[in-house]
Amino acid sequence: MTEQLTLFATAAFGLEGIVAAELKRLDMKNVTGEIGGARFTGTLEDAFLCNLRLRCADRVLLILAEKECRTFEELFQLVKSVAWEDLMPADAKINVSGKCARSQLMSIRDCQAITKKAVIERLRMATQQSVFPETGIAYPITVSLHNDVARITLDLSGDALNRRGYRTWNGEAPLRETLAATLVELSPWRPGMRLHDPCCGTGTLLIEAAFRLGHRAPGLTRRFSMEEFPFFPREACDALRRQARFDFKPDRISGITGSDIDPSALELANRHIRQAGLEGLVTVEQQPLETLQLTDETGVFLCNPPYGERLSDRKSCEKLYGQMRRLKARHPGWSLCAISSDPNFERAYGKRADKKRRLYNGRLECEFLIYR
Ligand SMILES: C[S@@+](CC[C@H](N)C(=O)[O-])C[C@H]1O[C@@H](n2cnc3c(N)ncnc32)[C@H](O)[C@@H]1O
Repeated sequence: MTEQLTLFATAAFGLEGIVAAELKRLDMKNVTGEIGGARFTGTLEDAFLCNLRLRCADRVLLILAEKECRTFEELFQLVKSVAWEDLMPADAKINVSGKCARSQLMSIRDCQAITKKAVIERLRMATQQSVFPETGIAYPITVSLHNDVARITLDLSGDALNRRGYRTWNGEAPLRETLAATLVELSPWRPGMRLHDPCCGTGTLLIEAAFRLGHRAPGLTRRFSMEEFPFFPREACDALRRQARFDFKPDRISGITGSDIDPSALELANRHIRQAGLEGLVTVEQQPLETLQLTDETGVFLCNPPYGERLSDRKSCEKLYGQMRRLKARHPGWSLCAISSDPNFERAYGKRADKKRRLYNGRLECEFLIYR
């Protein structure tokens, strides 16, 4: 499979443009942002490179068919038109997931069942086999309907790309790695500057910033579903992984630190830092934000403070937001960036942000606020 394929990098709502920009930086062709991600063209090697190196995307999908479908019969015929026999062995385990929005066909479960039936029908015709035991490797297929257009895809990532492999314990309200990487990208921090997370929790923002600083491909040490497929171009992709390993320059990583009030969160942060291969390069210490004092004249505070989802916690969170303003006042050369779902953040902080961007942390609508 050396031909140009139509690929799609999925992104959390609102991050489509950021993922499109990442794809362009990776030199992908015909990149266009769409609802839910960015479409591009490339080879299987390109798809593997994206799996390895995209920081903000959730998955890389291969688009196999796409067409308007208003009936189950149309969907069945569309799925059956794909040459599944060229993609998968007859013992493949067919896992179909689905999504439906603003379409005539709105039953996700029925769309999944029809899709699976059509894949098996196509395999039956091609192989003359009548029984499909599904004892082999898993093929994650997606059927998604949006505005009556059905899209059939094969998931080339497997586990979502936020699963970098360094996080094994979650702590309290951790940030998804892909969102953390996005916040690093949206913040005014750039390589060469100091970065400190004063509510670092399990250390996700620090690790993602260090990965960026050290040119560490986020997917370097994990596997992807495409590696199991018979058409996987192993040699070329092994070379891409070797290159990514070579590009990782740990000696570039300095000036990234964190602190937190909770020693158990810091224990997790240290564990994650170690598992990310960053021991000694990223350091954290126990320190309440209220008394934090750094000696560097300039830098960026980047944090994901508690949001106070329950009313009882809200007051203490808002007090903490007020303390964040004092922290910034003690460090006049520093910027401060925070993500919060609390609509009263600016009032509690005591000043309007210089820049704001709406984002989702999971299902929570949040704002990313920047004070310069
Ligand atoms: C939402 S969690 C941060 C999660 C983190 N981004 C991660 O990925 O694990 C908020 C963190 O703020 C810390 N925190 C709360 N009050 C604090 C204070 N006064 N000073 C420093 N840290 C505080 C909590 O201990 C908690 O770890």
